[in-house]
Amino acid sequence: MIRTVVTADYEALSAAAADAIAATVERTPDALLLLATGDTPMGAYRVLAERRARGALDTSRLRVAQLDEYAGLAHGDRRSLYGWMERSFLEPLSIAAAGTIRLDASLPPAVACQAYDAAVAAAGGFELAILGLGPNGHLGFNEPPVARDAPTRLVPLTPESIVSNARYWGDEDDVPREALTCGMASMLAARQILLVVSGPHKREILSRTLDEAPSAEVPASWLQDAPGDVVVLADRDARPATP
Ligand code: F6R
Repeated sequence: MIRTVVTADYEALSAAAADAIAATVERTPDALLLLATGDTPMGAYRVLAERRARGALDTSRLRVAQLDEYAGLAHGDRRSLYGWMERSFLEPLSIAAAGTIRLDASLPPAVACQAYDAAVAAAGGFELAILGLGPNGHLGFNEPPVARDAPTRLVPLTPESIVSNARYWGDEDDVPREALTCGMASMLAARQILLVVSGPHKREILSRTLDEAPSAEVPASWLQDAPGDVVVLADRDARPATP
């Protein structure tokens, strides 16, 4: 069952997401978080970093796994999603890189995916998956169509994702064409899932995610089938009041 919470605006969304993440960290200090990059969760990560800086949140035992990574990038490439996660979460929240589970794009893809899955299993699975919603309904880089049990793997990006990711790096030509992604099966197995969605451009795909039957065409609609506790946090622009 999905619980949907609608906030007035992006600021309120970020505060509510930070509250939800902090509640998990307080309850389970050594929780393994599955962590999206992208623009939407950045406000929440900033709120968490401020709380930690003023001593209101202890993240010293927290563990983090990356959600996805472009394929074929060398360590240190400016477009690395691991680098983005470092700048936005690991460093501000002082999480040791040694404790993080990485999708290592410098390894052959099958080796990287196997190592990732083995590390997640050894850590006891994800306590909380923090996800954003792609314009085509993707979660991580599980591009449509995708099966509910899709494994962690190498995927080609759809044209829609390439256009959408161009805003991060400057130009469509700067967006790698393939990525490694945590599979649907692993992310749906998380004990809690928090999907954060903001803006009018996400309105239609969020409606298809929540209001239509689950299908491969809208990867996020598989959240309706997840066994854990699923919360969708959306701002009013993304989820207008129904008349
Ligand atoms: C990022 C990721 C993507 C984004 C999604 C939404 O690690 O996995 O699935 O969460 O594309 O991106 P934003 O939040 O930038 O709209």
